[in-house]
Amino acid sequence: MHSFGYRANALLTFAITILAFMCGIASFSDSLNSPSPSVQVQVSNINWFQKQPNGNDEVSMTLNITADLQSLFTWNTKQVFVFVAAEYETPKHSLNQISLWDGIIPSKEHAKFWIHTSNKYRFIDQGSNLRGKEFNLTVHWHIMPKTGKMLVDKIVIPGYRLPEEYR
Ligand SMILES: *[C@@H]1O[C@H](CO)[C@@H](O)[C@H](O)[C@H]1NC(C)=O
Ligand SMILES: *[C@@H]1O[C@H](CO)[C@@H](O)[C@H](O)[C@H]1NC(C)=O
Repeated sequence: MHSFGYRANALLTFAITILAFMCGIASFSDSLNSPSPSVQVQVSNINWFQKQPNGNDEVSMTLNITADLQSLFTWNTKQVFVFVAAEYETPKHSLNQISLWDGIIPSKEHAKFWIHTSNKYRFIDQGSNLRGKEFNLTVHWHIMPKTGKMLVDKIVIPGYRLPEEYR
């Protein structure tokens, strides 16, 4: 005798199986999307460059960021978190990473943008290593899906250099 409870339970199990299957398809189809984002970042100005009283170097710069991240969006994308970081080497650490700017892109319509901004987070080196320092700017993005796992990737733009003198 199949009671109502038994049938309801079977239906629920079936529904959950279908849902899990659809989520699987959703994140699988995301992994088939091979995005081709483009980003250009220019340091359009060094606003100032100083040694702080405690001996650490700090620089303030203006960045010109032009991005087209529309291809990162699929129907399964909730939002994209993007950040721009400066990466450089010092005698103590082979990789120093400093986040300079970040933003959340809520939809594909907002994924093509141009922004001219001074660094949102302070660019401070724990020491006095920044004069004449070569650095890379990296643009990282975290694609937050509606279902499935987060995808993370980046673009490295090498070949920047800080001034030789404080100013
Ligand atoms: C910012 O960069 C874009 C493209 O690289 C360029 O067309 C634009 O003139 C730049 N703007 C400023 C204020 O430097
Ligand atoms: C900067 O980029 C170049 C070229 O991609 C790479 O060889 C170098 O290791 C990078 N430097 C740092 C500190 O990540």
